[in-house]
Amino acid sequence: MSGLFYFSSALADNFDSYYKLKFKKMSKILVIGANGKTGRRVTDKLKNLNIDVRASSRSTEIPFDWEKPETWGMALDGIEKVYITFQPDLAVPSAVETIRNFVKLASQHDVKKMVLLSGRGEKEAERCENELINSGVDFSIVRASWFMQNFSESFFTDGILQGELVVPQIEALEPFVDADDIADVVVDCLLNDKHKNKIYSLTGPELLSFKRCADKVSEAAGFHVTCIEIPLADYLDGMRQHHYPEDVIWLVQYLFTEVLDGRNEFITDHIEEVLGRKPRSFEDYAINAAKSGMWIKN
Ligand SMILES: NC(=O)c1ccc[n+]([C@@H]2O[C@H](COP(=O)([O-])OP(=O)(O)OC[C@H]3O[C@@H](n4cnc5c(N)ncnc54)[C@H](OP(=O)(O)O)[C@@H]3O)[C@@H](O)[C@H]2O)c1
Repeated sequence: MSGLFYFSSALADNFDSYYKLKFKKMSKILVIGANGKTGRRVTDKLKNLNIDVRASSRSTEIPFDWEKPETWGMALDGIEKVYITFQPDLAVPSAVETIRNFVKLASQHDVKKMVLLSGRGEKEAERCENELINSGVDFSIVRASWFMQNFSESFFTDGILQGELVVPQIEALEPFVDADDIADVVVDCLLNDKHKNKIYSLTGPELLSFKRCADKVSEAAGFHVTCIEIPLADYLDGMRQHHYPEDVIWLVQYLFTEVLDGRNEFITDHIEEVLGRKPRSFEDYAINAAKSGMWIKN
């Protein structure tokens, strides 16, 4: 029995080394937006597989800035595959030209595969997706619904810590998705040829209103979060007073007037199709976020 165990674990070790060696032989994967909610997770998961990753953003050693095309060439040097997260959003009017220029440069650098993070139900983002689709380079497109991590690692977090979730539509329904699930799908798309030229639409397991999310966060965080609805115009004025950039203000207006108009009120099974398991629930996400201290008040 112990011999069998020894044999099996030796085999498993060899398999693991083979797996790691196999991917090690690939040249680097560039992750753009590597400090971000999905970029960080994709970077960590690739590094755990011993894959050579160039994690890049404006603040990294080899910087990458969407607003400074002169930074792109160095980031792409020696790169075989790229995970693209755009800032602030593929829907902003200038994005399509920026993505066109980036894709052209990537193919000149002999990049073999690009995985793009996109949104659902956004015509403007689809124009950016088309730049990859028509590039001649292998691609996968991952369209994601709103991330659950917006409540713990992003624009809703400060309000939540003060006990408030302020939004222009508290009853709008969205199938919030866990950024860890997105990252698992992205990693598979980067490593597995079967995702070549596929488009996936990733959602969580259920439709939730912002009000329901606030209730679930309250339960996990251990303090009450009140969901407050204010008119969109007042919300945007508040952003202006806090000196948010105009394109981000435009984006919030676009999201709350167009994208949250009911067109995305459906769930998909693409996470299960790619990963062979169900997407994580909001409850699980909230329990984990609370455990990792995301909602501890100072
Ligand atoms: N959040 C959602 O619910 C959601 C849903 C669907 C799709 N998306 C899409 O996901 C993408 C990421 O959005 P996110 O809001 O979740 O952000 P995020 O990924 O959390 O990230 C911010 C990351 O982008 C980097 N960054 C900021 N400005 C940059 C620039 N000009 N050039 C290069 N890197 C820059 C930041 O690092 P540095 O400060 O170091 O540069 C950071 O690494 C967007 O395209 C968005 O449309 C988001």
